Amino acid sequence: MSTALIILAAGMGTRMNSDLPKVLHQIAGAPMVVHAMLSGASLSPERTVIVTGHGADLVETAVRAHDPEARFALQAQQLGTAHAVAQAREALEGFDGDAIVLYGDTPFIQPETLEAMAAARAEHDVVILGFEAADPGRYGRLVMNGDTLEKIVEFKEATDKERALTLCNSGVVCADVQTLFSLIDAVGNDNAAGEYYLTDIVELARARGLTATAVVCSEAETLGVNSRAELAGAEAAFQARARAQLMEDGVTLIAPETVHLCFDTYIGRDSIIEQNVVFGPGVTVESNALIRAFSHLEGCHISQRASVGPFARLRPGAELAEDSKVGNFVEMKNATLEEGAKINHLSYVGDARVGPAANIGAGTITCNYDGVMKHHTDIGAGAFIGSNTMLVAPVKVGDYAMTASGSVITSDVPAEALALARAKQENKPGLAVKLFKMLKKQKEKRSKGAS
Ligand code: UD1
Ligand code: CA
Repeated sequence: MSTALIILAAGMGTRMNSDLPKVLHQIAGAPMVVHAMLSGASLSPERTVIVTGHGADLVETAVRAHDPEARFALQAQQLGTAHAVAQAREALEGFDGDAIVLYGDTPFIQPETLEAMAAARAEHDVVILGFEAADPGRYGRLVMNGDTLEKIVEFKEATDKERALTLCNSGVVCADVQTLFSLIDAVGNDNAAGEYYLTDIVELARARGLTATAVVCSEAETLGVNSRAELAGAEAAFQARARAQLMEDGVTLIAPETVHLCFDTYIGRDSIIEQNVVFGPGVTVESNALIRAFSHLEGCHISQRASVGPFARLRPGAELAEDSKVGNFVEMKNATLEEGAKINHLSYVGDARVGPAANIGAGTITCNYDGVMKHHTDIGAGAFIGSNTMLVAPVKVGDYAMTASGSVITSDVPAEALALARAKQENKPGLAVKLFKMLKKQKEKRSKGAS
């Protein structure tokens, strides 16, 4: 069965108190709307339609960055959830199959839950996702009769008896796309809110002799975000779940609550992550690697048995081969560290290749930027870069070459050569002692003058 996702993301999110549309606020490095898309990804949707309204341009740009094929439907006025879904009709022209409606501000629906809904469609025409609410508050209530979902009543419309129900509507709907649109055509807005309620489709379906049921998930999955405090709560919930998953997958987190993960962080088995490590987007760590405390990583790949930090910063394009090592206060960007190579201390390596088993001394800088353009540095296998070497790119250091400490390397160094590019040392016998005497006298004079 082919599937289409319809993600409602038109709402303003007044309580966020933000210029940014609500669904673009991020959890674990991805906008909430992208989380909703990822929830649906396991169903391999043939089409994804995002219903936009407030901040439509911004939402489109952010969604396209994640999925260039996503389609958009503008809901100029927010007249209710059924009206929002109706806007997706044109974008689903020519699509045959099931549509799943998700909310852009409900980021945690699990793929297995949507799979269960898709499976329930074999027996029922309309499938609604419900949850047992600890505090049902103002949620819509599901009125069940055995397996049959009789109707959904919005809180505002509900009788006292209905308000006492604790099985609530999450908002997620699954139905054949034609059925869905034809039911929505019949939805009116004669209700307490004057809105077109998507929830009305259940009663309408049953009036037509169609069947409806509910799949039930945990309340945590249906967590919606309406305020900054709820956003922080959602972030904490995501982090807790992602950390637990990593540990289950065989990764050691020494102090899990201090490790910050991203929506797409991958870490292989038997890797160890020390305290206070931050993972930005696009990080993959293979197995048996060690990420030491206070390191910050984004857009990088770390191979088996490589070691990073403490206090390392790996920026996008950092690629660490097996058994390589990046030590404290080292920054890498768009640079490859080949097998067994080491940058142990206090260095910046950007736009570079460091060959296998090469060693970069403390305080080395690849001077990659001339103020206008970026240039490449290439360091050969087994090369030894002396401490405090400036490598003025573009420049090449050959295999098994050396640079002397403090060198400013502006032209290529042939393989196996030693490059010396610093002022020659001169020693003046006895001059230090004379200098000390002179300085002490000066100091005495000054303190006399002051009193
Ligand atoms: C809705 C459900 C309610 C359910 C609750 C779960 C209806 C009528 N009610 O209520 O049964 O318990 O969600 O959270 O469906 N949106 C649009 N365009 C609109 C209206 C809404 O895009 O015209 C989007 C919102 O941005 C939001 C989502 O749809 O992401 C839900 O809308 P909201 O107004 O929050 O619905 P509730 O009243 O909470
Ligand atoms: Ca809501």
